[in-house]
Amino acid sequence: MSGSGRRREWAVIMATALLAVGVAVPAAEASAPAPASAVVVTSKLPKCRVADDLTRYRKLKHWGVTLVDHTLRLPKKYAPKDLVPVSRAKVAGSGSVRKIIVKDLRAMAKAARKAGAAFAVRSAYRSYASQKATFASWQRRLGYAGALKASARAGHSEHQLGTTIDLRAAGSSTSSFSAFGKTKAGRWVAKHAWKYGFVMSYPEGETDKTCYKFEPWHFRYVGKGTAKAVRKSGLTLREYLWREHHQPKKKAKSSG
Ligand code: DAL
Ligand code: ZN
Repeated sequence: MSGSGRRREWAVIMATALLAVGVAVPAAEASAPAPASAVVVTSKLPKCRVADDLTRYRKLKHWGVTLVDHTLRLPKKYAPKDLVPVSRAKVAGSGSVRKIIVKDLRAMAKAARKAGAAFAVRSAYRSYASQKATFASWQRRLGYAGALKASARAGHSEHQLGTTIDLRAAGSSTSSFSAFGKTKAGRWVAKHAWKYGFVMSYPEGETDKTCYKFEPWHFRYVGKGTAKAVRKSGLTLREYLWREHHQPKKKAKSSG
């Protein structure tokens, strides 16, 4: 084999090794995506197809990269072990979140208060069982097709991760759910949440990609690094996680 042939072969071995590491160990936001040169993009973002496929990264340590949507779901027994009341983050409202988000949630709440845009948490961790009840109640109100766009079926909700919060303006009544985006708190979080590691999962006008209607109140914590990368990418969180961690990837061809 010529020197350049050997070099090329070595480059492919290295790229394959890196790819294997990147895919096998998606350690939340620390995970490094496989180098672009080592992969060929093989698939487009899937349609919002209703199914019950187990998502690829479904361990508690994968909280930053786990993808749930109409198709992909968490195991029924998936339940974080480090849940604490949201009051630990000095935020008003109710519910529990994983301990790993408390520090950044506390900082975000403090900054919002300082800006006169205080928010409260209206819903946080939801177990498989409680999501089942939530979806059923939406189904009674909107019918199945309507409920699918407003609520996740059991196993398919980011709320089961324990890293996701629904917000309301502090001091407002719970009836102002949909108006949240127009409140000072709603506008503030839409603009600043990424700095604290939070992403608005279902932005306006992106239903075909996110599978859900605009939810200006629903924020998922992915860590500061990932939130910044998502913002820079201009993609919705579902598209970003699909592109970076979930789509099937093929090794680069070694010929040439
Ligand atoms: N409302 C969002 C989609 C959920 O139920 O998780
Ligand atoms: Zn929500």
